[in-house]
Amino acid sequence: MSVEELNCSELGTKDYWDKSYAREIKNYKNFGDVGEIWFDEDSHIRVINWLLQQDYISNDVTIADMGCGNGMLLIELAREGYKNLLGVDYSPKAIELAEQIAKDQDLNISYKVVDLLNTELCQQQIGKSIGIVHDKGTYDAISLCPDNPKEKRDAYISTVYNVMDEKSLFIITSCNWTEDELLTSFANKFCKKCIIPTPTFKFGGKVGSVVTSIVFTKK
Ligand SMILES: C[S@@+](CC[C@H](N)C(=O)[O-])C[C@H]1O[C@@H](n2cnc3c(N)ncnc32)[C@H](O)[C@@H]1O
Repeated sequence: MSVEELNCSELGTKDYWDKSYAREIKNYKNFGDVGEIWFDEDSHIRVINWLLQQDYISNDVTIADMGCGNGMLLIELAREGYKNLLGVDYSPKAIELAEQIAKDQDLNISYKVVDLLNTELCQQQIGKSIGIVHDKGTYDAISLCPDNPKEKRDAYISTVYNVMDEKSLFIITSCNWTEDELLTSFANKFCKKCIIPTPTFKFGGKVGSVVTSIVFTKK
């Protein structure tokens, strides 16, 4: 089974993100504005609440945020007491912004510039048994790439797979793909563990969601 590719967009290019984070750094320096929280703050809260409810996950679990942007999810996790936090993003400006915000809040979070499509290098750069691998909006952005999006989605899925072990969890929140599409795209390498419920709406007798959050384990 396959899914229909999305229409490409500038959100699928590095140039877009570099320019966007360069602007956000200026806003942060001038006005203290941390910048965009993708899919709103509630999507952070839902993931963090879900993690806090899993008694078997301790606060020293390693958590890697793939495509961390300004790092605000990691900031929230650090405030909740999680200690082993790594944020990676291919935009050096995103990492500069995230590092500055964490420093200003006196929080200990590691950040690295990493291109998640460079699957071979990622295991060295990120690790190979990350307890919780998190993605909000990054697989979505990669899916919008103007050239070879399918190849890029597959490279990303391999990267995520390679940094996990059999106990690791992968939590993905997407607004571009439905639950069924995500399950289809990840089916070769991942199994669904559960869904983190997100708000739903009803239209024409059908129930839909604006965002989807799925927890996967490795096959
Ligand atoms: C929609 S933003 C989401 C940012 C953050 N996860 C959040 O929820 O606020 C997508 C992020 O993915 C990053 N990104 C896109 N492609 C990437 C790649 N190949 N490697 C690493 N990061 C990437 C972008 O730089 C951007 O920060």
